Amino acid sequence: MLDALRSPQSVLVLGASSDIAQATVAALARRGRLDRVVLAGRPGPRRDAAVQKATSEVGRRGVVRALDFDATRPDEHEAVVAEAFADGDVDVVLLAFGVLPDAATAAAPDAAAAVVTTNFTGAVSALTASAARLRAQGHGTMVVLSSVAGERPRRSNYLYGATKAGLDAFATGLGDDLAGTGVEVVVVRPGFVRTSMTAGLGPAPLSVDASDVAEAVVAAVGGGTRTVWVPGALRLVMSVLRHLPRAVFRRLPI
Ligand SMILES: NC(=O)c1ccc[n+]([C@@H]2O[C@H](COP(=O)([O-])OP(=O)(O)OC[C@H]3O[C@@H](n4cnc5c(N)ncnc54)[C@H](OP(=O)(O)O)[C@@H]3O)[C@@H](O)[C@H]2O)c1
Repeated sequence: MLDALRSPQSVLVLGASSDIAQATVAALARRGRLDRVVLAGRPGPRRDAAVQKATSEVGRRGVVRALDFDATRPDEHEAVVAEAFADGDVDVVLLAFGVLPDAATAAAPDAAAAVVTTNFTGAVSALTASAARLRAQGHGTMVVLSSVAGERPRRSNYLYGATKAGLDAFATGLGDDLAGTGVEVVVVRPGFVRTSMTAGLGPAPLSVDASDVAEAVVAAVGGGTRTVWVPGALRLVMSVLRHLPRAVFRRLPI
């Protein structure tokens, strides 16, 4: 449970090796109360490195555990989440997995559908399983990494944008359904974040680092904010872009 300073003691990360997730675990650990970290993700060197990093951040008082989790296996999600809650309450569930398809992937039917399975279908099942556990324990925060890309899908990024629009709508509705249960859903809409996902892409306006998203997440947990834009200026930018006529919007170099 959050203490008087709203500092979580336990976190489950779905998408263990995500750069944003790793920065968020580090930011939560700096608050000083984090003593249980469950890192659910695909096994491999990136997850191993995340476990090592989190272990050094929580220090001697903490326990870090890795669980195998594949977003494309919704049939396994209930069991993985149950395992994560087996050692006690979980204060924060951070949904941080996702893939950013290139144009060739978006043009190939099988590959395009696989992106939807990871970013949307897998997120729906993982969030549904997590919501049931949090509802049963009567408290907790689900932090969902959506994207500004879902606010109005761009022609250069429409597949990713569509998956994030679906995820954003699902998480927002789930949050409303959970109102009054003690469980909160925080939907985070970052713009361009300099991480492994965007490595090699050209710089974008209003770019931020993973640590900026992490600080925004930490500020939102237990703080009553349900929608977080990173950077905050994107909220205003998108409220303008959202209302542009389509013929104008699709010509923008974004
Ligand atoms: N970077 C940005 O500009 C940006 C902006 C807005 C929103 N976001 C969102 O923020 C989240 C984190 O992204 P990031 O920037 O931290 O990128 P990242 O470092 O590339 O992290 C992506 C994560 O997704 C995991 N993943 C991919 N497919 C998976 C699967 N089938 N099963 C389980 N895990 C899987 C990866 O695990 P593996 O190590 O196993 O591949 C990795 O942990 C994503 O949802 C992303 O869409 C990112």
